[in-house]
Amino acid sequence: MTQAWMDKTLSPDARATLLIEQLTLDEMISLVHGPMPAMVTPPPADAAMGAGYIPGVERLGIPPLNETDASLGIANPRQVRPGDGATGLPSGLALASTWDPELAHAAGVMVGSEARDKGFNVLLGGGANLTREPRCGRNFEYLGEDPLLAGVLAGEAIKGAQSNDIVCTLKHFALNDQETCRHVVDARIDEGALRESDLLAFQIAIERGDPGSVMCAYNRVNGEWAGESDFLLNQVLKRDWGYRGWVMSDWGAVHSTAKAALAGLDQESGEQLDKQVYFGAPLKEAVEQGEVPFERLTDMVHRILRSLFAKGVFDNPAAKRFTDYAANAQVAQAAAEAGTVLLKNDGLLPLSGSLRRIAVIGAHADVGVLSGGGSSQVIPVGGPGLSLPVAGAAGAFANITYHPSAPLAAIRDMTRNTQVTFSPGTDPAEAADLARDADVAIVFADQWATEAEDLPSLSLPGHQDALIEAVAAANPRTVVVLETGTPVLTPWLDRVSAVLEAWYPGTRGGEAIANILFGAVNPSGRLPISFPREVEDLVRPEIPGQIFGPPEEGRTIPTSRPDVQQHKGRFSVEHPEGADVGYRWFAKHGTATLFPFGFGLSYTSFAHSGLELTGGETITASFEVKNTGAVAGIDTPQVYVTVTGSDGQPSQRLIGWARVALAPGESRRVSVTADRRLLANYDLALPGWRIAAGPVAVVVGTSAEDATLHGEVAVTAGTLKP
Ligand code: BGC
Repeated sequence: MTQAWMDKTLSPDARATLLIEQLTLDEMISLVHGPMPAMVTPPPADAAMGAGYIPGVERLGIPPLNETDASLGIANPRQVRPGDGATGLPSGLALASTWDPELAHAAGVMVGSEARDKGFNVLLGGGANLTREPRCGRNFEYLGEDPLLAGVLAGEAIKGAQSNDIVCTLKHFALNDQETCRHVVDARIDEGALRESDLLAFQIAIERGDPGSVMCAYNRVNGEWAGESDFLLNQVLKRDWGYRGWVMSDWGAVHSTAKAALAGLDQESGEQLDKQVYFGAPLKEAVEQGEVPFERLTDMVHRILRSLFAKGVFDNPAAKRFTDYAANAQVAQAAAEAGTVLLKNDGLLPLSGSLRRIAVIGAHADVGVLSGGGSSQVIPVGGPGLSLPVAGAAGAFANITYHPSAPLAAIRDMTRNTQVTFSPGTDPAEAADLARDADVAIVFADQWATEAEDLPSLSLPGHQDALIEAVAAANPRTVVVLETGTPVLTPWLDRVSAVLEAWYPGTRGGEAIANILFGAVNPSGRLPISFPREVEDLVRPEIPGQIFGPPEEGRTIPTSRPDVQQHKGRFSVEHPEGADVGYRWFAKHGTATLFPFGFGLSYTSFAHSGLELTGGETITASFEVKNTGAVAGIDTPQVYVTVTGSDGQPSQRLIGWARVALAPGESRRVSVTADRRLLANYDLALPGWRIAAGPVAVVVGTSAEDATLHGEVAVTAGTLKP
């Protein structure tokens, strides 16, 4: 048979249509559901052994979908591919701290290439959920609290990944903002606010990255499961945004057959985790009974095949091949270096390479750097530096894993004739003794976070705050290096000389940290998430559901808190912050943060001047950036507007930024133009985006709280489609 659909001159749609004509009903059904291959005995012969597998149709040359988690590299939780390591990128918050679309693209290219090397053709990453809850266990997989920043970076990473002729997925659609009770929670929010925040991040990511698939979230949104929400899938994603790829479920997120199919879910993933294989025999029956029109099943299959044609999966099938891990590690290291944020420096950093004695303390810095847990867990090439067992739901994924990139060794490599000693930090008094005798003490502090659980507090776990206090009391020339999944409180801040937020820095994290400590790399990271001063400042001082354990459906939650309500007998969480996530919430409430969104120091200094604004349909801000210090560095000036939000209150919004590398004394004029949706409010009556005419306050700043230039410009009224 000639395979007419293999004619590359035809459009992906035409090719999908030709191929579908050849498919039987059973074959169509087989393309819309699939298992976790590791839980099938024996596993399918052509499974690459990732998180998901959809059988192909061999007689027609349709390849199996071999799906792997890939938020931070090619994951291998539970080591279903025994010993198969991969390059670990720094965490999503580290990548977001780079504010660098090119780096995000390069990271995507690298991860996509490793996916191909291992025989995968569908990536289950990355995530664009806004980090509404700083204690959320998955923040390390996400890109921060701003829709523009998260959307741009997610889009670029997807574009990079898909340049390898594979599909990349965007997840978790939508409002999966806490892990606690993620399988039961109903996240409730005003539609306009949702469109202006999390949905805007997804919308921008889709526009820039054109992912072949979108994964639904576990939770409900405004009463409906994300995977059977006609509003989210049919109306927003497919109608309003014209999305032409397919929607896959999260693993264990399908709750019905006809309802889900009619709402716009196209594929059931990880089907063993659902109560039944809803998109198997029950879907076939529903189609035969007319409950789900045959045209809808055709559309489901069309969307899948179309993406496979559009992204190159048919024309350039993935096959196992050699991986250049050394080259890929450089990509991870570059991202870690650019994503490390210098939070405090009284002048101690950068360190000289010829200090007499350095005490390195804590966080297993002698063996490696921490990574986050869950389905995104990358197993290091050659095995973990350290692997610690963990109990509970998170333990089902993997041990606590340290990438074997020891900061201690990297620090030794940066020094000459320096005695570099190490204390595990388990005994603060012993660590303090070591610090007292040193020129500089470097305390590493870490916080393990994982999918399936939220963090119990914003504090560093265990005795680490006390350890830092003891070391700083013995020697104020103390540097704290944080390896955390999310923001933490720093009660010792005034008593230490410098603080670096290294997040989870990935495969070459130790080297990246040492390069920054000793000034081989000038820190340029900027926070993509606010560090609050205390939990009382958060929208939800307690994580709904967390202190009671996971509620069963219909169980009454004994609480007096206004934000935890019973809704139709279910567990729901209101989102009074609406679109005012993170810095916007703090600005609205006049709450100063510990370290604001956008903040980060450098070893040089910068000045901004000459603000020129153009108004009209949108806003363009142009200004001069100058390196006024003695070393080369990268500045990331940010442009914020304050408009009147839907609630009539002032609403602060990041409209853009520039990332400017400058030699000492060098200056450059840069210009930033707003995406018009950031000047608008979402108007349900329109429906669409509505920009009000009038003057808009514009600032250039070094963070959401620190402005260097002020201006005002008039915009004209306008509307935009949803
Ligand atoms: C996670 C997804 C992941 C899937 C497959 C789920 O638990 O929420 O992000 O892609 O598992 O591993």
